[in-house]
Amino acid sequence: MISLSKKYLTSIEDLSEDEIRYLISQAIEFKTKKSDNGNNNQILAGKTLALMFEKPSTRTRLSFEAAMFQLGGNTIYLNANDLQLSRGESIQDTAKTISLYVDCLVSRVHSHNTIIELSQNCKIPLINGLSDLYHPCQSLADLMTILEYKKSFKGLTLAWIGDGNNVCNDLLMGCAKVGINIRAAIPEGYEPPQHVLEVVTHESKLKQTDFTIVREPVYAVRNADVVVTDTFVSIGKEKEVDKRKSIFIPKYQVNDQLMNYSKDNAIFMHCLPAKRGQEVTSEVIDGKKSVVWDEAENRLHVQKSLLVSLLI
Ligand code: CP
Ligand code: NVA
Repeated sequence: MISLSKKYLTSIEDLSEDEIRYLISQAIEFKTKKSDNGNNNQILAGKTLALMFEKPSTRTRLSFEAAMFQLGGNTIYLNANDLQLSRGESIQDTAKTISLYVDCLVSRVHSHNTIIELSQNCKIPLINGLSDLYHPCQSLADLMTILEYKKSFKGLTLAWIGDGNNVCNDLLMGCAKVGINIRAAIPEGYEPPQHVLEVVTHESKLKQTDFTIVREPVYAVRNADVVVTDTFVSIGKEKEVDKRKSIFIPKYQVNDQLMNYSKDNAIFMHCLPAKRGQEVTSEVIDGKKSVVWDEAENRLHVQKSLLVSLLI
């Protein structure tokens, strides 16, 4: 077991390629040994994970809570609205207080600045459970799913279709770090932030892989090994729903017609929750190329891998 060089995970940028590969291989071990793993593995006995969430969650909350319970630890879920934070207590003081009682904090926040402030003030490991900019745990589960299906990252091309959002940002940086070619079809004005583009460009040059942003989804998907999309309206963007729908739909919708341009053995991924009929059709998400349920399951195994690496 290796411990990570940083005691926090704010974005996939915090991890080296070796650390990403290690976390995934350890997650695959958790998954393949799952029958005798269960409640028999008490490796996190006596450890407590707090989950402080400002936004709703199904998979992230459940997978972290289940991971802790299955490894012998405990969890405390904190709706941020129930804390003194909602009455004006500072992030700094909240972080210092939480650090007195538990061993690790996962936080889902509106503004990524909150994650940075938490990471600077927590005395315990801090994991970003999704911010407006990044979703590192999702990216790890996505890379694990790609490796499971494709056996190696070498030579693969991933097509991202749609919004250059939090999930996109970390997935693109993660893919670039492990040497996956990237073609992203994103409308003008919805590209990832400059910093993300610079990291992806830099990592792709190091690995001698391709990274291009195009406007036409067909150009991105043609002969791709992996096709990924996410909602066009992330949490916090609800006021832009009409504008976004008019820009993204129907051009950026992943449907059978678009998937037909990918390789015969291509896989389709989506972090979920999906808005069926918007960014993806039911025929694709329920279709033979879809691996979305393995992707969702892998959240559990990756969380275990991450928790063990941060807490032991
Ligand atoms: N993919 C993901 O993070 O799902 P939740 O919003 O349900 O946690
Ligand atoms: N991009 C989505 C991901 C949800 C898991 C959002 O931020 O709402």
